[in-house]
Amino acid sequence: MNADPITTAQQWNDRPPRPVPLEAPVTGALLCPPDYFDVIDVRNAHMEGQIGTIDQELAWNQWLGLADAIESVGLSVHLLESHEQLVDAVFTANPSLVINDGEGIPRAIIGRMSHSNRRPESSLHRQALEKIGLPCQEIADQVEGCWEGNGDTLRHPGRALIWCGVGSRSDIDCHLEVGRMLDLEVAVLQLPDPDFYHLDTALTLLDEKRAAYVPTAFDETGRALLETAFDRLIEVDDQEARDVLAGNLWCPDGKHVLMSAGAPVTQSRLNSEGFQVVEIETGEFLKSGGSVFCMRQEIRA
Ligand code: ARG
Repeated sequence: MNADPITTAQQWNDRPPRPVPLEAPVTGALLCPPDYFDVIDVRNAHMEGQIGTIDQELAWNQWLGLADAIESVGLSVHLLESHEQLVDAVFTANPSLVINDGEGIPRAIIGRMSHSNRRPESSLHRQALEKIGLPCQEIADQVEGCWEGNGDTLRHPGRALIWCGVGSRSDIDCHLEVGRMLDLEVAVLQLPDPDFYHLDTALTLLDEKRAAYVPTAFDETGRALLETAFDRLIEVDDQEARDVLAGNLWCPDGKHVLMSAGAPVTQSRLNSEGFQVVEIETGEFLKSGGSVFCMRQEIRA
């Protein structure tokens, strides 16, 4: 594995990441019930003006809809215990990353949250993932910075590579360390637009050759790198991406795409590519800056 990250299209062409032919499939999702879900401060651009506006009953119904949708595509739902004060614990994408390593074997890395009131979520993830049977590792203490798990780190299906977002939540040193721990190359994308503060709000890896992305979320270098790395890039409609986080998609099996309701343009582009789209109402969670992908951590076995 090369220790230098891939940041440009040229570097991709010079050393395209090696294939990983056999990988553990996604079997389920870790979700946290929204018992204490709330917006109590502003941690991202989507939360502006939303303090105290959560309709708890509606949030519960939407969360149940997400759990049903996950089961409807044949995956099992695992639960993380909810705790008072952990208002964002429902966004299970962030405090960990369950991922196939360079050998295609599933492991978990525990996240380092940037907001102090999300930090207790990390040890809860560790407990829940170990119970499921996933070996968990922490980033070494001497590596400084934050790292928000699957929110900013996406594994390229079929290749020994992670796509890593660097913006307000995750630091490059942590991404590089995670790449070393997993024996995976690191491709770095800068996130300059506050609407797309986690990589998972702007990029979804659909299969080895295809991804969906929000072009305006990236700088020119990032866009060029993505255009080189994928045979086919499906554009998420810009307005839908900003309004309902239409770029926060989850494709657990290369066939189904679970996504926010209210994004007909993006949905029909995915349909034309042959994906089966499952729409999920997530309006209450959008007020906190999260949707489908943010609300689940994948489980692999
Ligand atoms: N309110 C949460 C935060 O700001 C939302 C997290 C959304 N998660 C994601 N993976 N994009 O931390």
